[in-house]
Amino acid sequence: MSLKPTSAAQTSPAAVFAAKVANLEAKPAANANAVKVTPGHGVAGRHATRALLDILSGNKDPGMFGRMFPKLAPLNVPDSKLETLSKAMVDKDPTAETGDNKQIPRGFTFFGQFVDHDVTLDLTSLGDKEKDPLGIENFRTPGVDLDCVYGLGPDGSPHLYARNPANGNKPGPKMLIGKNITVPFGNVVGDFRNDLPRSPEGFALIGDHRNDENLLIAQTHLAFLKFHNKVCDMLSAGANPPADIFREARRIVTWHYQWIVLHDWVERLAGKGTVAKILHDGRKFYRFKKVPFMPVEFSAAAYRLGHSMVRQGYGHNRIFPGTPFQLFFDFSGLSGGIVGDLAPNPPIGQIPVAALPSNGIIDWRRFYALGDSGGAAVPMSPSRKLDTQLAEVLHALPGGGGNLAFRNLKRGVNLGLPSGQDVAKHMRMKDPLTPDEIASDSNGSTDGAICKQLGLHTATPLWYYILKEAKVRHDGLRLGPLGSIIVAEVFVGLIHGDQNSFLWKAKNWKPTLPSAKPGDFTMVDMLRFVNDINPIGD
Ligand code: HEM
Repeated sequence: MSLKPTSAAQTSPAAVFAAKVANLEAKPAANANAVKVTPGHGVAGRHATRALLDILSGNKDPGMFGRMFPKLAPLNVPDSKLETLSKAMVDKDPTAETGDNKQIPRGFTFFGQFVDHDVTLDLTSLGDKEKDPLGIENFRTPGVDLDCVYGLGPDGSPHLYARNPANGNKPGPKMLIGKNITVPFGNVVGDFRNDLPRSPEGFALIGDHRNDENLLIAQTHLAFLKFHNKVCDMLSAGANPPADIFREARRIVTWHYQWIVLHDWVERLAGKGTVAKILHDGRKFYRFKKVPFMPVEFSAAAYRLGHSMVRQGYGHNRIFPGTPFQLFFDFSGLSGGIVGDLAPNPPIGQIPVAALPSNGIIDWRRFYALGDSGGAAVPMSPSRKLDTQLAEVLHALPGGGGNLAFRNLKRGVNLGLPSGQDVAKHMRMKDPLTPDEIASDSNGSTDGAICKQLGLHTATPLWYYILKEAKVRHDGLRLGPLGSIIVAEVFVGLIHGDQNSFLWKAKNWKPTLPSAKPGDFTMVDMLRFVNDINPIGD
């Protein structure tokens, strides 16, 4: 149905909405640069603009983007203040154990980034995006549905699939997996299939190219490709294989993944029982009529919580027991030096390389609590706490990307986000952060004091408020009440609004794949099921 205005029923809510759309579309400035032809992490194909949000938010189904709190006033802060605050938001002691979050293993940081890409992926064709740059009429709803893995399925995206063993002219039900190369360093010799599939020039052939932005999200994506393939094998070997293996495998994988998102990820962030409570009581602040939208309070503030979880460096495997983060950008097709046939032969250094060298394959025991999975004991350092301190590496992003803390704060202002205090008041929080709590500091940080000097402790940028709330209320181990509600309601809503999800189709469904605790399923269970935990050994 078109939203363009018609002469009839000019005063109905639909006509009012349509008139607003027409008015917005008539303003070229609102649409300028709204479609990115080369999206990256945090820069989706289409993105929200303030003009769009100001005009359409408050409508029950605003389109692709909207606001959770459309009636609250925006917090305007000059760049000079944002810059001063962002510079102070640095982790001054990045290896101090006091900054570690022992409740969230560090693998979840990249799972969280993977989930971000899943919910922000916009598979609408470029032509359709250009016709509807603001994502009002023609968009796929944001969903926790693994379209980043499946693309448009074997028919729509055959380049993502392995050939069908029964009919080599057709793509089969299984995902394509890439091959590693061997390099002299580390002596990991053999045929490994532990890279993303790649084009001859090194770009990943996957449903969302952003998942090749750094090696840790790339290996997370690979684990999901292998998860799907393992479920296909399980179904084919069963007594009564389904007629359509792909379809059934996709359903099983997606439902287990949605379970992981809600119960192993969101409940780590928001506290056990949060999801059940929202399902029981209903969503109070993330509301839509039929079509879920991406709320900017989530995408431009709350869910950027992942930035504070990133560590300055990671122990990756036995060959790279302590690797600065920059190297994970280097070993990727999108930000770094994986370039396929364009790589010099013989190699001239660590990068550029044709594909991921086998010595760069992840040892999952170092990222998730897989302790008793065999082999030598290895350290598993956790993620960093949810707080207002970001690793130094994020203060100077590669390729001139600037300071991520500043970019987050600035994005909030550009999109007209309200202050944390106004959101807390609107939500009728019993115990909102006091100005003194906002101004508090710990572990040698000074951002709280600076926030006060700038006068931002009484009207605080939402992203900063949510991180400070996590630190003050739960010592950075999980989100505080305001952050929890935004994150948990949005994830529950995105899944609930998807008519193929388990919440829609079978509300009382419980995971069926093997797991440590029957009826539950975690990232650890998934990695154990895939059974490729430390391919290169000790
Ligand atoms: C690995 C290191 C990461 C880097 C270098 C990074 C970098 C970025 C950048 C440059 C942006 C755009 C900033 C802007 O608005 O101008 C962004 C946006 C964003 N990031 Fe990250 N990020 C990282 C990890 C994460 C993680 C772990 C999460 C969540 C768990 C996350 C969630 C988000 C969200 C929600 C956005 C905005 C929404 C969108 O994707 O469109 N990021 N990030």
